Amino acid sequence: MEAYSEKVMEHFRNPRNVGEIENPDGIGKVGNPVCGDIMELYIKVKDNVITDAKFKTFGCGAAIATSSMVTELVKGKTVDEAMKVSNRAVAEALGGLPPIKMHCSVLAEEALKKALDDYQRRTVKKLSGKAA
Ligand code: FES
Repeated sequence: MEAYSEKVMEHFRNPRNVGEIENPDGIGKVGNPVCGDIMELYIKVKDNVITDAKFKTFGCGAAIATSSMVTELVKGKTVDEAMKVSNRAVAEALGGLPPIKMHCSVLAEEALKKALDDYQRRTVKKLSGKAA
């Protein structure tokens, strides 16, 4: 396990923002068919800023650490800023990941993008609902 940085191990042992958000503004559910890991990301958005983010991950240590880090990274960011958070940024914030574990950070990026897409879809719906 020395292949993992201190920070990865720390987020794996003590993950931040575990759980579910009630009435979330966006949900992203993704899975990797090869390893079978599953990640769910929930976001709360107010005035275009992510005020809260939580996750539930059934997966490897790196999947848990990247989920934890991505929730930390996006809190306080605008939706547009969060869109730009890449899997590399997540991995870098964790002090790097072993090459065979980079796909775990990809899962975190995908979950985030899906949650943001979901948020945007819901917002459009709400707006068109109002206009009607
Ligand atoms: Fe697949 Fe980590 S081994 S997400």
